[in-house]
Amino acid sequence: MRMYDIILKKRNGYELSKEEIDFFVQNYTKGDIPDYQAAAFLMAVYFQKMNKQETSDLTLSMVNSGDRLDLSGIKGIKVDKHSTGGVGDKTSLVLGPMVAACGVPVAKMSGRGLGHTGGTIDKLESIKGFTVEMNRDSFLGNVNTIGFSIGSQTGNLAPADKKIYSLRDVTATVDNISLIASSIMSKKIASGADAIVLDVKVGSGAFMRNMNDAFELAREMVDIGNSLKRKTIAVISHMDEPLGLAVGNALEVKEAIDTLKGKGPEDLMELCLVLGSHMLILAGKAKDIDEAREMLKNTIENKSALNKFKEFVQAQKGDINAVDNPDENLPVSKYKVDYNAKDEGFIESILADKIGMASLVLGAGRETKESTIDLSVGIVLKRKSGSYVGKGDTIMSIHGNDEDKIKQCIKLIDDAVIITKNQVQAPKLIYGTVV
Ligand code: URA
Repeated sequence: MRMYDIILKKRNGYELSKEEIDFFVQNYTKGDIPDYQAAAFLMAVYFQKMNKQETSDLTLSMVNSGDRLDLSGIKGIKVDKHSTGGVGDKTSLVLGPMVAACGVPVAKMSGRGLGHTGGTIDKLESIKGFTVEMNRDSFLGNVNTIGFSIGSQTGNLAPADKKIYSLRDVTATVDNISLIASSIMSKKIASGADAIVLDVKVGSGAFMRNMNDAFELAREMVDIGNSLKRKTIAVISHMDEPLGLAVGNALEVKEAIDTLKGKGPEDLMELCLVLGSHMLILAGKAKDIDEAREMLKNTIENKSALNKFKEFVQAQKGDINAVDNPDENLPVSKYKVDYNAKDEGFIESILADKIGMASLVLGAGRETKESTIDLSVGIVLKRKSGSYVGKGDTIMSIHGNDEDKIKQCIKLIDDAVIITKNQVQAPKLIYGTVV
């Protein structure tokens, strides 16, 4: 087999066999296929697309390029949750303890990555002492004793995806549905879960900007999961404005803790109830959505989710005072500047991508792999779209450590906030489910 022939076949629009896909994935991972041929291949896939069989073969081949996490030592059905990514998305920090408090083990591998803010594990590092570097035995041990652990992704899970994703990033081949679906699902399958709940975001702050693409991506991932014998379900959720109110690492951890204490924003709580309900049903803990929602709500009311989070923080060597009293024990920025409405009217939108960029400018995220994150900075919304503001009312507050960065951030926020005289409905949070 020659890579040249595989590129030519795809370039001309033909379906690739499992053997051809395997040839590309395994040899590229080993370093036997040069980047220029891999790049040409990815561009051919980008234009000619892959069908369902090819996408499923690509996923499995990427899973087989490295280790699989063996979760068989954990009792019960293991259900994983994955979000395609958005601004202010701290769902895992709330959902994990809620689901674990219902008796479903949550063993979550998370990444750092580039973005508007850090990934889940960067956020958790806002808690003094918190460690995400654990060996496999401690990680699995914590899941067995507490029911919930979040660890940093090991280098050996789906290494083919890591290499291919880096190349896609620099060759304008990221936004192809087959390539995104296989990339996400290869990591989920290698992480060992029995069932998977996907949160596919749609809107200005998401990969998928329009509804058709979001549903298509969801369909593709659900089909891959099911074809590889993992029960998979996808929820399509709103990402035109940030989720919840806080954007920024320590600020999001504080919001997650507030939510576990029953004092969080409504949209974040609702999304956790929706995703969590599917997780409980897939795990066989609840017979239907109504029962699952009730169980999850109880974990907030009786504080079992909050206690689960405390056990989790303690087991991963974090400072428990950060949970009891986040205001005093999480990193805080030097400046806090209010951003006020320039006009009266209804907020039509607070565009998530612009708010994400603004928090990146403050230092909340990484521009390059080498950047250092400032855990204390970010943005906290006081209003969301649909609400009425008078001229001069505070719409959000900016938490920063550098006056010049705050000025740049304000310019971006000027473009993010749209106020209109016409009444605006609050946007829908959930657009549908794909099973
Ligand atoms: N996230 C991934 O893990 N892979 C993609 O291709 C896009 C988003």
